[in-house]
Amino acid sequence: MKHSIIVGNWKMYINSVADASVLVTTIRNNVTLLDKTKVVICSPSIWLTEIAQIIKKSTRVSVGGQNVFYEPDGAYTGEISSLMMKEVADYVIVGHSERREHFGETNFDVNEKVLACLKSGLKPIICVGERKKSGNLVQPIRELNEALNHVPKKYYKDLVIAYEPIWAISNGTVGDNASPEYVAKVANKLREIVHSETPILYGGSVNSKNAKSYAERPEIDGVLVGGASVRASEFIKICKIFSEAKEIVRK
Ligand code: PGA
Repeated sequence: MKHSIIVGNWKMYINSVADASVLVTTIRNNVTLLDKTKVVICSPSIWLTEIAQIIKKSTRVSVGGQNVFYEPDGAYTGEISSLMMKEVADYVIVGHSERREHFGETNFDVNEKVLACLKSGLKPIICVGERKKSGNLVQPIRELNEALNHVPKKYYKDLVIAYEPIWAISNGTVGDNASPEYVAKVANKLREIVHSETPILYGGSVNSKNAKSYAERPEIDGVLVGGASVRASEFIKICKIFSEAKEIVRK
C-alpha cells in the first residue's frame, strides 16, 4: 500500500456547475503537495467533464463517477456505460447503499457493474456495509463475495473496497461514525476475501475531527467522505490528516 485514498462523494449536495468548479479548484489547489495521498472526486455525472478539465494537471487528484450501468451500449434511456465513464473518470462508486435502497440495486447488478468497470479499465469503488449496528457482518461479507463473482483474482489489485456501515452514514451534517477499532476489525475480515494490497476504505460520518483516528490505523487505507466532502476546508483538512498520519504509521 503506497498511499491513502480519500474519496469525496458529492452525492446530490451541489446544485450548480459554478459551485462544483469552485469546490474542486479549491481542493486541487490545496492537496497538490500532499504526500502519499490520492484524492478522488466523485461528482454527479453531468459535471464530470468540467471536473476532469479542472484537475487534469494534478497528479494528486482523480475523477470518479457515482454510478455506472453495466451494459456496454443499447436502448437504456438515462444510463451511462462504463466506456462513456472511462472517457472522463478513472474510478466509479459501485453499489452505494443509497443506490441499493432508492434504486433497487441488487448484488447481481453490483457484480455486473464491477465486471463492466474492469473491462473498461475503470477502478470500481465497491461499497458494502450492514444495515443495523449489531456487529453482524453477514451482509457486508455477502455483498463483497457476490460483487466479486467471476472477477479473476488478477484484477483484485484494481479494486477499491469501501466499508460503509449504513447506520453510520450521515444525513449530510450529522451521523454516528463507527469506531476505528470496529472498522479495523471489519477491514481485516474483508481483506481475507480480497488481495492483501486491495485498499479498504471506511465511510460513514467522517469529518476533520474523527479522521485522525482512522488515519492512524494501518488496517484502514483511506476514507470515503460524503457530507464533509462538499465543505472545502473540512475535506482538505481530512486529506492533510491522512497524508501526515500515514507518514508516521509507515515509517
Ligand atoms: P457521509 O457519507 O460521510 O455523509 O456519512 C458517506 C457515504 O455515504 O459515502
